[in-house]
Amino acid sequence: MGSLEEILYLSRHDIENLNIPITEVIRVVEEAFLEKAEGRTEVPPKPGIHPQKDAFIHAMPAYIPKMKSAGIKWVSGFPENPKRGLPYISGLLILNDTETGFPISVMDCTWITAKRTGAATAIAAKHLARQDSKVLGILGCGVQGRSNLEALTVVFKNLEEVKAYDISEKNLQKYVEEMTTKHGLKIVLVFSPRKAVENCDIIVTAGPILKHPHPVIEASWFKDGGFACALDFDSYWKPEAMHSMNKFCTDDQNQLAYYKKVGYFSNIPNVYADLGEILSGKKPGRENPEEHIMSMSLGLAIEDMATAILIYEKANETGTGTRLPL
Ligand SMILES: NC(=O)c1ccc[n+]([C@@H]2O[C@H](COP(=O)([O-])OP(=O)(O)OC[C@H]3O[C@@H](n4cnc5c(N)ncnc54)[C@H](O)[C@@H]3O)[C@@H](O)[C@H]2O)c1
Repeated sequence: MGSLEEILYLSRHDIENLNIPITEVIRVVEEAFLEKAEGRTEVPPKPGIHPQKDAFIHAMPAYIPKMKSAGIKWVSGFPENPKRGLPYISGLLILNDTETGFPISVMDCTWITAKRTGAATAIAAKHLARQDSKVLGILGCGVQGRSNLEALTVVFKNLEEVKAYDISEKNLQKYVEEMTTKHGLKIVLVFSPRKAVENCDIIVTAGPILKHPHPVIEASWFKDGGFACALDFDSYWKPEAMHSMNKFCTDDQNQLAYYKKVGYFSNIPNVYADLGEILSGKKPGRENPEEHIMSMSLGLAIEDMATAILIYEKANETGTGTRLPL
């Protein structure tokens, strides 16, 4: 802990320069989910405000006693931003000292949001996808399309091929070039959502979240034994496709119930289990190679706080960041 009279400010650049490997993020996010499963975390459903259509600014507080991590992420997603040349997601995270409540750090949260979401997908897939998964479908080749691929390559060593789809051909081309160089995998451009779903063992949908979705993915496109992780709520998946799953999971049942109350998820199946229950063995994950399984990843503040404290510690160790008076 630094002095309580100052905070450590960490810019996006500071955080990127720490070069924390995705394996570390996966480790701490997994630990946070296990703590949640034992009822040892505080993570209330995130309230939001909505200054533009389909835009959000969410307040995401969480406390993980075991990691001595407490704080809040204030994160926005504005779908019109890419047209302005700006990223969809931006925001800040405040960490608090767990003894005094004093703020100890303010940091950019874009790296955290990208990496912890990819980590959460990889953790879910470890338990819910087939271990021998070889073909991955990515719909939406932006920040999440990148970080989810990165995290999945760590867990699934047999991955051979990625079918990538994006409504923007420019984004798609850039993704294929970058990801081929970075991961040495066969990355195939496909030009319809159907081609990015059919014959895939794992599917990640990462397009925009729409309050009133126009979904296109049909149940019949889904391979036996497939696993899907939706980062964009039910925007891509037709209700009949979600209802055809043998197991429909989420990262947090409370958060899902809250979203339903405020008008999202009008037609989704009952939840079989949340991630913590599966990770802790309270409920089995995949039980046979034929099951159709989906996880609705809503994004939890415990993932952020687990990653943020890791960043804070590495920044202190390496003298990274700017100290500012409180
Ligand atoms: N569940 C979580 O924890 C979590 C966390 C962060 C982001 N998200 C969600 O993930 C999604 C992607 O976020 P991002 O930061 O990667 O955004 P981004 O803007 O970086 O990338 C989105 C990509 O999707 C493409 N796209 C837009 N509409 C599409 C469509 N219909 N089909 C295919 N591609 C389409 C865009 O061209 C862009 O390349 C958003 O919905 C965001 O809210 C979820």
